[in-house]
Amino acid sequence: MLDQGAPPPHDASAVPPSPGLAARLMRRKPVERLVAEGGQGEGGSLRRSLGLWQLTMISIGATLGTGIFVVLGEAVPKAGPAVTLSFVIAGLTALFSALSYAELAGTIPVAGSSYSYAYATMGELVAWICGWCLVLEYGVSVAAVAVGWGEYLNELLDGTIGVTLPAALSAPPGDGGIFNLPALIVVLLAMTFLLGGARESACANTIMVVVKIAALVLFCAIGVQGFRSGNYEHFMPLGMAGVSAAGATLFFSYIGFDAASTAGEEAKNAQRDLPRAIMLSLVIVTVLYVLVAAVAVGAKPWRTFTDSEASLAQIMTDVTGQSFWGTLLAFCAVVAIASVVLTVLYGQTRVLFAMSRDGLVPKVFSKVHPKTGAPRANTLIVSLFCGVLAAAVPLGQLADATSIGTLFAFALVNVAVVVLRRTRPEMRRTFRVPLSPVLPALGFGLCVWMMGSLSTVTWVVFGVWMAVGLVFYFVYGHRRSRLATPVPSEARTHQK
Ligand code: ALA
Repeated sequence: MLDQGAPPPHDASAVPPSPGLAARLMRRKPVERLVAEGGQGEGGSLRRSLGLWQLTMISIGATLGTGIFVVLGEAVPKAGPAVTLSFVIAGLTALFSALSYAELAGTIPVAGSSYSYAYATMGELVAWICGWCLVLEYGVSVAAVAVGWGEYLNELLDGTIGVTLPAALSAPPGDGGIFNLPALIVVLLAMTFLLGGARESACANTIMVVVKIAALVLFCAIGVQGFRSGNYEHFMPLGMAGVSAAGATLFFSYIGFDAASTAGEEAKNAQRDLPRAIMLSLVIVTVLYVLVAAVAVGAKPWRTFTDSEASLAQIMTDVTGQSFWGTLLAFCAVVAIASVVLTVLYGQTRVLFAMSRDGLVPKVFSKVHPKTGAPRANTLIVSLFCGVLAAAVPLGQLADATSIGTLFAFALVNVAVVVLRRTRPEMRRTFRVPLSPVLPALGFGLCVWMMGSLSTVTWVVFGVWMAVGLVFYFVYGHRRSRLATPVPSEARTHQK
């Protein structure tokens, strides 16, 4: 019998018990809630305006750039003519992860990409780590690519009109410069398009992508005329070790195929088109890379490649005997790399948009401008941050760490696809990774292997980056997570 005078006992069914720390770190966001919130944020919704063509162009835009125009020159001395094989190996690593991205992008079509996939399958802490890696992949690589753009622009200006910008205003800090103005300018240009809205940005990007594909096709058409079979005599002069070392370097050239998955809330038919866009872009890019590399090492003896920014332009000039063609290619490279800046910056704003909607980063990142449908404040903050990072901070090892952040996010996506198959086998999937879990396991293994081949300094930078991210999570995101406060319908369910 209860003592009538005693206070009423605690009614455990009315107030759900507060979960422990481990449970809070592992809390998962149901797929249905992720998708439902995708259409309606507190700060407004993104606008659905992109079709398959634009989505494919976003992924190609983010992928095809410095890797083929600049990094190829660094990779050839490592592998010789077998650099073509290195591209295939790096492409295969990307392919396994791309399959997993395609399945999840079709199943959970939201702006957060792998961050959201991790939230649905592995819980909040892993999702945060993934999102933090994406900031490294997208945010820091925008800065690194912008610096590369500035270098290419300098070469173009020097080679065409003989103008050389003063080093203090055009070279990266730590490399003879003080403030890298061109790097800031390209980020601000990209910002201007992004503020206009996704549709406008996609349109500008499509034009730039067409220019860069046309330039590479032109390179193949002209370069093949200088083809000497003797250049292929020693196909693998530095053995398999050289081929895989070059493959690890060239992996950078595949980063970005996942960019379309950040457009999940702006695609007209996301479930159908996102998987197609991801796979299509990867196929197009791989074919182009292998063709361009095959022609380049056929037209120029591999020993004569240096890590100069302009190997392809040089080949054009040498084969034709006219500097015009080399200059044209250099101009197209400037356009090509600008589109990487535009699309990668786009991806970064969308990932932060999703994280903000979940309460893990401040609300300002998920406010949408009613007229343009673009997250305006988010775009301004991210662009200014990346622009100043590119212009005023010696990026050094931080730039190298973008590959490790990307590989980590890819590895998690390969795990997420298997977890979701187990936990939600009944869900409708518009694309399925064949032979799961074998291919996702291979994708995971390849990512881990590639991470292992990166330098100790890169790992240390990555460790410091992660430590900063975890501090931010525990001080801010963990407490403000929207999963910490049940949505009204869930609260009502508890009270029933
Ligand atoms: N894949 C991108 C590039 O090569 C990052 O520029």
